[in-house]
Amino acid sequence: MSETLLDHRPTPDQAAALRPQPPLGLLAEVTHRCPMRCTYCSNPLQLDPKSMELDTDTWKRVFSEAVELGVIHLHMSGGEPTARRDIVELMRHAAEVGLYTNLITSGIGVSEEKLDALIDAGCDHIQLSMQGADEAITERVGGYKGGFERKQAFARAVVERGVPLTLNAVIHRMNIHQVPDMIEKAVAFGAKRLEIAHTQYYGWALKNRAQLMPAREDVDRTIHEVETARERLKGTLVIDAVFPDYYARYPKLCNGGWGTRTFSVTPAGKVLPCHAAETITHLDFWNVRDHSLAETWYDGPAFTAYRGTGWMKEPCLSCERKHVDLGGCRCQALALTGDAAATDPVCVKSPLHESIGEMATMEAAVAEPGTATYRGFRAG
Ligand code: SF4
Ligand code: FES
Repeated sequence: MSETLLDHRPTPDQAAALRPQPPLGLLAEVTHRCPMRCTYCSNPLQLDPKSMELDTDTWKRVFSEAVELGVIHLHMSGGEPTARRDIVELMRHAAEVGLYTNLITSGIGVSEEKLDALIDAGCDHIQLSMQGADEAITERVGGYKGGFERKQAFARAVVERGVPLTLNAVIHRMNIHQVPDMIEKAVAFGAKRLEIAHTQYYGWALKNRAQLMPAREDVDRTIHEVETARERLKGTLVIDAVFPDYYARYPKLCNGGWGTRTFSVTPAGKVLPCHAAETITHLDFWNVRDHSLAETWYDGPAFTAYRGTGWMKEPCLSCERKHVDLGGCRCQALALTGDAAATDPVCVKSPLHESIGEMATMEAAVAEPGTATYRGFRAG
């Protein structure tokens, strides 16, 4: 047999074809500091303290490297990103290097002067979190007194300045009855888009799952409410919806696929294939202090671990949907099965599918589920 037939290494052309596509989006968690104490927070249990945060120049380098790598969208998030003193300087740099910038904020503590400075620095879009449609629920969910009033004022200030506004409402048992009111508030605020995003149970939210899990009939009602409002508000408000996957038959394609479209950088500089990836503790996450973004995206061990389909086991391995959902969510697989390479148990083909649905139904059926634990920057 010739040497060529024995050699399974790809040719340079094959290697180039096998190479993953560059990413489109970067979620920059510039700080974990936050005035809100949301019960559904998906940030990790252990937050990065201020002393570990990347400095201004390092974040600027990260944004420049992101553009070189192919990133188009920058989502500047946290925590509350505006808690950083240098947020305007970071925003200006991101805009100057050509990124489309989305500020993800609670709106709390953002003065009109700071908002003007951020817009002047090149902020293209603002995404405001919404915990409820009135003061009582906003305070109950987010643990911040007077939050609704301040968010309302912030939303109006954004719209008055002509910056496109998206509201992001994380839905769970404590606020699911307010979905129709939240839709009306989004219209009243002048938002262009509303995200009705049912809680994903990672990080702090997993800790509060028993208090947050909605009943299936409430979820079904919400689906109907969203569909009706979408039709009625065509041309006024776009409504995106993510429904709770514990009640689904098939899992979601999480984050567009592991190491496929987007990645995150934590306040301390770890580069993650997804926002919750640090829950998979056996992975080796490279840091922007030691490696370029390009090295990490293409060759970082955390990115190659679950990219594509090569890591799959049965039933995913021989499943006709494996290129559709890439086996679902790795973080959820770990949280629910103890194995990040298992089939996401929300999938009907997982041996755990039935028990996950039953567990959700049981949790949602408890009349007095107890008090959810509030997040707190120091509580992690
Ligand atoms: Fe997706 Fe795996 Fe379920 Fe198939 S078995 S639908 S690939 S999660
Ligand atoms: Fe990490 Fe889904 S949240 S892969």
